[in-house]
Amino acid sequence: MASRKRILVVMGTRPEAIKLAPLILKAKADPDRFEVLAVRTSQHREMLDQVVTYFDLPILADLNVMRKDQGLTHVTTAALQGLQQVIASVRPDVVVVQGDTTTSFVGALAAFYENVPVAHVEAGLRTYDKQAPFPEEVYRRLTTVIADFHFAPTETARLNLLKENVPAATIWVTGNTAIDALLLTLAKATPEPSREKAPTLLLTTHRRENHGEPMQRICEAVLILLKGFPELRVVCPVHLSPRVRQVVEPMLGSHPRVSLVEPLGYEDFVLAMNDAHIILSDSGGVQEEAPALGKPVLVLRDSTERPEAVEAGTARLVGTEVAAIVAACRELLTNPAAYRAMAQARNPFGDGHASEQILDVLARSLDSTTRHEPAAPAATPASAPPVRKRPREPALQVALAADATTRLSSAAPNPGST
Ligand code: UD1
Ligand code: UDP
Repeated sequence: MASRKRILVVMGTRPEAIKLAPLILKAKADPDRFEVLAVRTSQHREMLDQVVTYFDLPILADLNVMRKDQGLTHVTTAALQGLQQVIASVRPDVVVVQGDTTTSFVGALAAFYENVPVAHVEAGLRTYDKQAPFPEEVYRRLTTVIADFHFAPTETARLNLLKENVPAATIWVTGNTAIDALLLTLAKATPEPSREKAPTLLLTTHRRENHGEPMQRICEAVLILLKGFPELRVVCPVHLSPRVRQVVEPMLGSHPRVSLVEPLGYEDFVLAMNDAHIILSDSGGVQEEAPALGKPVLVLRDSTERPEAVEAGTARLVGTEVAAIVAACRELLTNPAAYRAMAQARNPFGDGHASEQILDVLARSLDSTTRHEPAAPAATPASAPPVRKRPREPALQVALAADATTRLSSAAPNPGST
């Protein structure tokens, strides 16, 4: 019989946890095939706590890297150091990373240094513009170079990988695990019955390339729309990044028809999307969820790595110019045919079984591999705990991780550094 595979899942931000939760829960429910362990860098703190609590995810280690208004260099170095120690002590059969954040890339890099195979969930998304989204486009490409298993959500993503000479036998088209999480949540949540009410615009914005003036223009457009449509209401769960808050709060906070709220728990946000008339967002995940819910999403970006939503007709790229945002919203608010054309549930991102498929591939493919031994000793800093092969006691593993946290905190660079 095939041996049980030890999977180490790495997560740092809200969307990674949402998209990896179904995979973790499925692997946990299948102890004959898998031992699943999860490490959180905590690149996000409260926004990740919300997801971990909602899905009740088992967490082996918390690296506690988040700093207020942190720079990329801080997250990269602190997470790399901590993840290397966790991977070296756990010695998993595979490290699973998701998407395109600093944590995803660094998780892949740390596994590579430790000679552990890497599975990349949501592989193959591309804009081919290194500056947009920044730095995510580069993280994705770098993760592709490192990964051994590429789980592409769509055929388009698979073709992108093939163009980059990724071996076809290492790519699997599975759909996006975002849809697994969405369906899991819709099955638990109870949407309010739809009733006649004032149109609501749901706004989310956080992308680095939208910090500053583009975000100001987004808010300006929202104010113009509120003026032009006296019935219109706006709900905006404000991302915890100070760069977002310093723009959105002063510009929209005092308007009587704008509700600025703290980041919503995942289930509440799904219900808010379901309740909205139009979604205005620069989020990646929202571009995947809105088509499945049949909600028009106007994407506050000039390019997208998720062209499938645009092709399906539910998403439209509107950028961040005031006139373009206002015109696109106005059309949806005044032209029922244009609204209907966008508001149809079409879901190009999978059937909700992506996680199962990924786990099946891992169970099958890892069967033929042997456990990977540590790389050359030079890869392990002198201060790291000695590499332990397959520690059995969970208590021991947590103790190692807590130790890593302490040392990371004391070595943390200036929070303002980039
Ligand atoms: C990160 C990801 C981005 C992803 C987004 C999801 C990178 C480079 N960026 O961007 O790809 O789309 O997460 O939301 O990996 N903060 C808190 N509490 C939290 C979360 C954030 O206070 O729970 C604040 C902190 O001040 C933190 C700042 O937000 O320093 C920025 O967080 P960071 O993860 O660096 O960037 P995001 O813009 O969230
Ligand atoms: N989301 C949430 N609460 C909110 C806003 C968003 O749970 O208040 C969810 C949303 O449903 C999606 C994910 O967070 O699954 C998107 O996260 P974000 O926009 O921060 O990151 P991105 O997807 O752009 O990387």
